[in-house]
Formats: sequence, structure tokens, C-alpha cells
Amino acid sequence: MSAKVELCGVTKRFGAFEAVSEVSLEIAAGEFLTLLGPSGCGKTTLLRLIAGFEQPTSGTIWLGGVEVTHLPPYRRPVNQVFQSYALFPHLSVWENVAFGLRMQRVPAAEVTDRVRQALELVSLAGFDARRPQELSGGQKQRVALARALVCRPQVLLLDEPLSALDAKLRQAMQLELKRLQRQVGITFVYVTHDQEEALTMSDRIAIVNRGRIEQFGSPHEIYHRPATAFAADFIGQANLLDTRLIAADGSGARVRLAGGLELVLRAAAWPAGVETALVSIRPEKVHVSKSKSRAQSTFAEGETNMFEARIEEEVFKGATDHLILATVAGTRLSAVVANESALGEIFHAGDRVFCGLHADDLVVLRVN
Ligand SMILES: Nc1ncnc2c1ncn2[C@@H]1O[C@H](COP(=O)(O)OP(=O)(O)OP(=O)(O)O)[C@@H](O)[C@H]1O
Ligand SMILES: [Mg+2]
Repeated sequence: MSAKVELCGVTKRFGAFEAVSEVSLEIAAGEFLTLLGPSGCGKTTLLRLIAGFEQPTSGTIWLGGVEVTHLPPYRRPVNQVFQSYALFPHLSVWENVAFGLRMQRVPAAEVTDRVRQALELVSLAGFDARRPQELSGGQKQRVALARALVCRPQVLLLDEPLSALDAKLRQAMQLELKRLQRQVGITFVYVTHDQEEALTMSDRIAIVNRGRIEQFGSPHEIYHRPATAFAADFIGQANLLDTRLIAADGSGARVRLAGGLELVLRAAAWPAGVETALVSIRPEKVHVSKSKSRAQSTFAEGETNMFEARIEEEVFKGATDHLILATVAGTRLSAVVANESALGEIFHAGDRVFCGLHADDLVVLRVN
């Protein structure tokens, strides 16, 4: 059983400070939704509003089609997992997981069944008798998950649950959590400020900035079609170019950068009635070659923006090469080139190169 989560125009003020501003969000039943944003942007407050630990100043909250805005936390079909696990140190793994069911006076035989199932689900069968201090960080986090799942919530709220783990374990747990979520089919609302974590796990991501949802979409949409400079910069790397419109017709828009470099974009991308805009392009979409014909061959006729540049900096990162390019017109661009084979092109600072940008890869950003 999983439930849809809806926030309709939710605002939350603490005194004069507005932590959440007019947030409307619809999370599908069974979806893995991530709230992604920098520290202090309102992620935890949004979770606490859904859980019922905070009341909105205005707006309404719905779970499974039922309004819960003024229901206390224990009347909502929701459970949560926090960064700090919050396990009972004096209780065994088994008793930690059984605790919620005992509070609900679930019959003993059913408790035994459900705790066993929950521990199997998080791969902790056989750890029943251990105490929290006898577990690793990842194991503690799994007990916290089992404890939340055993109560069969329709919605699970997770507030940076992996942030206490080291990088390697965190990556392993990301995949495990995603697998678990698919298996149990519960709606997950997951909070993180780690963009890679959000891209790895989510069905959809809501980018939160200063209490507002800046963009809402699939990881693919958010990465390839960022809506704002904040979204482009917060997820991955982005070249942000200040551009002015020269001409637009049915086939494309032509823009000019400060140094004089001219680029062609898809016409549909340029908003009507706007003269200047920020345009974003991902570093791996900046195609670079020392051979002009090779740079050109990546593109079909008419889709290419070709220009020359000099490599100012080159950093070898194994699988990729990171380049800082300076165009003749004075524009700086970062590029990431895949080191596909040992026989591929090798770049050095000072090299002259040809660059190609595809008209489709240039994304016009919205101004807030
Ligand atoms: N009870 C409160 N009283 C006053 N201000 C609060 C309260 N709770 C949160 N805030 C403020 O609201 C803003 C959002 O806080 P919140 O905890 O939701 O941020 P967050 O996105 O979870 O940040 P982090 O990534 O650091 O956990 C912050 O500026 C915070 O100081
Ligand atoms: Mg927080």
C-alpha cells in the first residue's frame, strides 16, 4: 500500500521568516521523490510538514486523497528515517524493530513474523541479538529502515539517511535503498543535498531553493533541460553564457555573447519577447578536437556551432580530461572529454583546438 502526497500552496513561517513559500507538489503513489537543495533551503521543514510535526501557516496537505493538514503525526500513514538513526541503545536489533508494533499492541505471533520479514528485507537476518553499538554505520541505518518499514507506512520520509556513512558505503546503500523501495512499493520522499545521490535514486527530483520549488522533473529532464541558473549549477557542472538575441526565425535563434562569439540555438528554446538570457551548456557537450574535420563530423549540417579556442588548462582525471578553453572572442568554456582509448586524442594546455556545440544542447534558462 502506498499513497499519493499532495502539497497545495503550502507556506510555513517561523516568526517573520518564511522557510517554505507557496509550495505545490504532487508526488505519485509508489514514487521515489527527492527534495534536493542546499543547506537551509527548507527540505527538513517540508518533511516535517508532511509528517505533521509542523503545521503550515497556509495551504493544505493531502495523503492518499485525504486532507491531513491538521491531523497529528500518529494519525498519518507516514513513517520516517533520520540521519542520526535514533536507535534505542539498550535494546537489541530485534527489540528496536519490534518496538513500534508493540506500542500498537500487535499480537506477539504477528510481531515475530513482521520483524523477521523486515530484517530479511534489509539483509540483517541473524543480527537479532546485537545491540546498536555492535553494528557498523550501514547496519545501524538498515535497522532504522527496518524499524520504519515494519509499521507498513504508505509513505516513508527519509531525511539525509545516508549522510553519516563514508562515500563507498553510501553508494552501495543508495542502490540498496532504491531496490528496497521498488520491492516494497511505498512512496519515498527523500531529502538530500547530494546531487549525485538524487540522480542515482529518484524517479523525480524537486530542486528546492529558498523555500521554493525551482524545478520538478525526472533526473534526465533536470540534467539535460535545467530551467534556471540555480538548477543548472546545482546539478552537475554548467557553462552559463550571457547572450543577446540577434535574430530568430522558424529554424533557429542566433545569439551573441559579450566577446562577439555568435551561436545558433533551437528557435523553440528562445522565449518570446526576451532580448537577453543566460544559456547553459554542459561541459561534456562541448566537443573538442585538434582536427577541424573531426570536430565537424560529430554534427549534421546546420546544427553546429564551430569555433576555435586555446586550451588554458588541462586536468587528467583518468576516465575523462577536464579542459578550460578560451575562445578567440574571449569566452571561457569548460569541457569534459572522455578518454575512450589509449590511442585517442591527447590534449595539453596551450593546444589550439576546434570546438563544436550542438544547437540542441544549448538550453535557455528562465530568470526568477
Ligand atoms: N523551528 C524553527 N524556528 C525558526 N526557524 C527555523 C525553524 N526550523 C527551521 N528554521 C529555519 O528555516 C530554514 C529551513 O530550515 P530546514 O531545516 O528546513 O533546512 P534544510 O533544507 O533541511 O537544511 P539542511 O540541509 O541544513 O538540513 C532555515 O533557515 C532554518 O534556520
Ligand atoms: Mg535538513
